[in-house]
Amino acid sequence: MNKIEIYKHLSWKIKYEAGDMPYPPVMFWKKNISKNDILGSWKNTIEYIKTKENNHNMWLYVHIPFCYTHCFFCTCITKVEHNEKKYDDYLDLIEKESELFSNIFSWVKFNTVYVWWWTPTILSAKQIDRFYNIIKKYFDLSEVIQIMTEWSPYTTTEDKMKILSKHWINKMTFWVQSLDTQTLKTNNRFQQFDDVKNAVDLARKYGIEYINLDIMAWIPWQDLDGFKETIDLIKTLNPTTVHVNAFMPTKNTNYIKAWGIYNYENIKIRNEMELYWKFLEDDRSKITDLWKDNIQLYNSHNFNSSILWLWYWAISHAFWQLHYTKNSFPDYKNFLNNWGKGIFFTWYKLNLEDEIITYFINNLRKWISYDKFYTIFWIELKDTFIYRKILFLIDKWILININKVIKFSLDSDVFCSIYSKYLYKDEVIKNFLNYFFKNQKDYKNLDLMLKQFFTN
Ligand SMILES: C[S@@+](CC[C@H](N)C(=O)[O-])C[C@H]1O[C@@H](n2cnc3c(N)ncnc32)[C@H](O)[C@@H]1O
Ligand code: SF4
Repeated sequence: MNKIEIYKHLSWKIKYEAGDMPYPPVMFWKKNISKNDILGSWKNTIEYIKTKENNHNMWLYVHIPFCYTHCFFCTCITKVEHNEKKYDDYLDLIEKESELFSNIFSWVKFNTVYVWWWTPTILSAKQIDRFYNIIKKYFDLSEVIQIMTEWSPYTTTEDKMKILSKHWINKMTFWVQSLDTQTLKTNNRFQQFDDVKNAVDLARKYGIEYINLDIMAWIPWQDLDGFKETIDLIKTLNPTTVHVNAFMPTKNTNYIKAWGIYNYENIKIRNEMELYWKFLEDDRSKITDLWKDNIQLYNSHNFNSSILWLWYWAISHAFWQLHYTKNSFPDYKNFLNNWGKGIFFTWYKLNLEDEIITYFINNLRKWISYDKFYTIFWIELKDTFIYRKILFLIDKWILININKVIKFSLDSDVFCSIYSKYLYKDEVIKNFLNYFFKNQKDYKNLDLMLKQFFTN
């Protein structure tokens, strides 16, 4: 098999497993790690933040892991939970975890705080208040620049919104996904346009500065008219930004569990929806004010910033040291209760080489400046191990090099995703091949599989 085929298969596999964010992808991580490794890694990262005095910053990320319903299109591993006592138990655990980390991070001033995941608004106003009081008690937010949360319009109420304004939340996303009644019903979601309007009005009333609305292009079995209707209604609310996520048929979605395949006809409609949205987006002014954007993601992409992620399934990143995640609820509880003994994580030890590869993967789609690279890694790009590969890609016109900036020659998701795999470490590709040869039956009909995840 030639290399490009390997990269194509790997690109699909990573998307299908819904884990394309960190490098290397979670499927290549190791099992079990000691408590001392985690603490030691964080200490090294914090030392780095102290001494380098550069742009490196820390973010805090917290999941609120309960859903009101299980939506048919959803890629998350979700839990429907209506028992309020379970929400109190959750808060107890978050408090315990915050306390565990508070000493290690006592020096760190968190830059941004992001609270999201399933349905944060399912908690009562009193519980939401307790949640933010915990975070503020154990972590230093005195220099925080963005506190963001993502809410479901269906469970947003005025008393909950009041609590947000009390805790300085300055950016919100409301999860809309669709406003077409039939599609919502098919997908087991119940919010209506009036719920969304009410939520946006309340956010404005209580002084939330930036309001984003999330919608999706093609959720099962939405047609183009339904999508256009959603866009037209969204426009009347005049949000600061709108994010349109193209549906991904990952292995976690109930859609794939029930139907197994996302066909060419579905993909065609999704593409038309994206085109319709792009047309409208170009019509509007582009986002030029960074404050409107998700600063955490911006910092993560542009500076490989570190992240402490509370709760499980979430991925923490200690810069230049470690990625780790707690795999399951029992693992999480063990970790909290047996902190002295615990080895409950999936992890990957990071070195400078991994951080540089991550930076390339995240930024080549836009551009990488030689000068900026030096300010992040304190090494000239030309002196790095990866430069040989970069020169090879430039020679093949896959990358271009103009005015001290390097970027992909084509602005295409699938092109960038496939060719970025060339930058992966040889040992990661070797691991993938071992996996691939044992599971070849998963890899039939590659063209369709790639189209399911990449729209161009
Ligand atoms: C973690 S989900 C949270 C969704 C939220 N709880 C809600 O009720 O809508 C965050 C975003 O992922 C996107 N998303 C969820 N399932 C997806 C899928 N199968 N493909 C692509 N995007 C998806 C949605 O646009 C959603 O806003
Ligand atoms: S879309 Fe949101 S509410 Fe629906 S199942 Fe996924 S996480 Fe839960």
